[in-house]
Order: sequence, then structure tokens, then C-alpha cells
Amino acid sequence: MRSMLFVPADSERKLAKAFASGADAIILDLEDSVAADRKTAGRDMARAFVAAEKGTAGRPLLYVRINALDTPLWEDDLAAVMPSHPDGIMQPKTRSGEDVHRLSIALHHAEAGNGHTGPETRIVPIVSEMPLSILQMPSYIGSSTRLAAINWGMEDLSAELGAATYRDANGQITSPFRLARDLTLYTATAAGVQPLDAVYPDFRNLKGLEQECIEAARDGFTGKAAIHPDQVAIINAAFTPSPSEIEKARSIARLFAENSGAGVISYNGQMLDRPHLIRAERVLARAKQAGLAG
Ligand code: COA
Ligand code: MG
Repeated sequence: MRSMLFVPADSERKLAKAFASGADAIILDLEDSVAADRKTAGRDMARAFVAAEKGTAGRPLLYVRINALDTPLWEDDLAAVMPSHPDGIMQPKTRSGEDVHRLSIALHHAEAGNGHTGPETRIVPIVSEMPLSILQMPSYIGSSTRLAAINWGMEDLSAELGAATYRDANGQITSPFRLARDLTLYTATAAGVQPLDAVYPDFRNLKGLEQECIEAARDGFTGKAAIHPDQVAIINAAFTPSPSEIEKARSIARLFAENSGAGVISYNGQMLDRPHLIRAERVLARAKQAGLAG
């Protein structure tokens, strides 16, 4: 998933727009973008929307963001939406991998109770919203086979920390938040799942978004969450390997295939060894996922 677009689940107009946005996944939100007195309406609309669109060809993945496990809301969220078999659940404000594990068990029971026959419902936790979670990052590794990606974000963490801002005067992410970002990248990679970069809330600033996407892709993130349809094309482009990247990766993979047994190979004046092959294979896998010939 290069792009995951949040959409308030209680807005029919936005649900339709999000579905047609070109995002690889949309996240029907039942958490912070839906007011307390709209939760029930949001749940009903999310279930109806997923049920109606699940069979649509070429559709984006359909995720639902439930409320956090320390609220009285999440069980009703799951009870409402699981009959429609969403592809995944986004889990906010996790405190550790234990929360993911608990959700995983709840999903197992919900699937059994709803005659679920498709692939298991995936989980994407947002692991940087609670300070305790930042201190327990390794606990996410192996927390559930359902883990598809790990996402981070700055808004809730800054409220928890009492930080006045998370960007300096130049727009750069400040140190406490950079730590959360970097730990997310290491944790997702160690867990063998997709590192998914934070939302960029300044949705009219498309240049700023593009710059942040380029930096995230450079560092190893393979996708980014979005809050506005205008952000989707920029995110998709930034996380799709370029033709020259794909060509280079193909050449490297070919060289290693032709020289099986060689640990190190010379290529255009550069030394190539195993890390280069791993990187090339990752580029080809991402190209294939984006619909380009691997
Ligand atoms: N998904 C689908 N459609 C969206 C959208 C989204 N995330 N954000 C905006 N749109 C739609 C608007 O409804 C509008 O449609 P219209 O022309 O048919 O009325 C169009 O795109 C243009 O929107 P715009 O006027 O630029 O923005 P806005 O002021 O209406 O909305 C937000 C701004 C921030 C309220 C809106 O982008 C939003 O709801 N984002 C998602 C919030 C969310 O889910 N947050 C939780 C995760 S952090
Ligand atoms: Mg949040």
C-alpha cells in the first residue's frame, strides 16, 4: 500500500470521493474524525459501504479505524463492521504489541462468528500516539500474523507530551518526533511488515508533502497515510519505483543470477554484494505491487 487515505466514516460524500481517489487503501474512520454522537451512524455507514463495495473490481483495500482498546467503543465498532468483512483494521493509540495481540484474538472470534471465509483481517497499528508505546517498540515484533504495516503520527503524541509544536521554523520534524518516526521504521522492518509514514496535515501544501514523501522513501518507508484526496497522486508517485530504479534493480538481479556462487560482483565501477541484491529484490517487489512488471 503506497497510499492509505483516511475518510470520516459518517460522510457519504467523502466515502464516495475517497473510494474514487486512486488510493491503494482507504481507512473508514470511526475514531477521532467522528464526533461522539455520530459513532453509531458512522458504524452503520462503514458496514454498509464495505458490504456494498467489497465485490467491486479494482477497488482499493478497505480498512476501518476503530477506537482505541482503552475506550468502551472499540468492541461495538468491531461488532458493527466485521459482518461486512473489511480487509483490515487500523488500530489507534496502541500501548504495546499486547494491544495488537488482543485485537488479533478479537478478530479471530469476530471472523468465526461472521462466517468469514476470505483471507484473515489485517491490522495496521498506529504505534506512536502514546509515549508508553515508544518505549515498548520491540513488543510489536511478532505480536500478530495479521500485522500488515506499522504507521506513526505526530498529532496525538504532541498532545500527550505537551509539546508546543512538532516542526521547527524550517518545517523539519523536531527531535522527539523524529525518534518516533525512526523507531517505527526499524520496528516495521524488523517485524517484516510495511513501514507507513505519518499523515501530512497541511493538506494545501503539496510541495511540502512531496518533499516529505521523497525523504520517507529515501529512508525506507514504502507508503504514507493521507487525509485529503489531493495528496494521493503525490504519495503514489513518490512510493512507486522509477523506471530507472527498476531497470537498475533488474540488472543487479540478473547479474547475481548469472553469477550464482559469487559473493561480490563488479558493476559499473561499483562493488555489489548481498545488500545490493536485497535492495534490488525489494524494488522489484514494490514495482510488481504497483502494477509494473517486476
Ligand atoms: N476523503 C474523501 N473526500 C475528501 C476528503 C477525504 N479525506 N477530504 C476532503 N474531501 C473532499 C471534500 O468533501 C470536498 O468534496 P466536495 O467538493 O464534493 O464537497 C473535496 O474533497 C475538497 O475538499 P476541501 O474543500 O479541499 O477540504 P475540506 O475543507 O472539505 O476538508 C478536511 C478538509 C481536513 C476536513 C478533510 O480533508 C477530511 O475530512 N480529512 C480526513 C480527516 C480524517 O479522517 N482524519 C482522521 C485521520 S488523521
Ligand atoms: Mg490520532
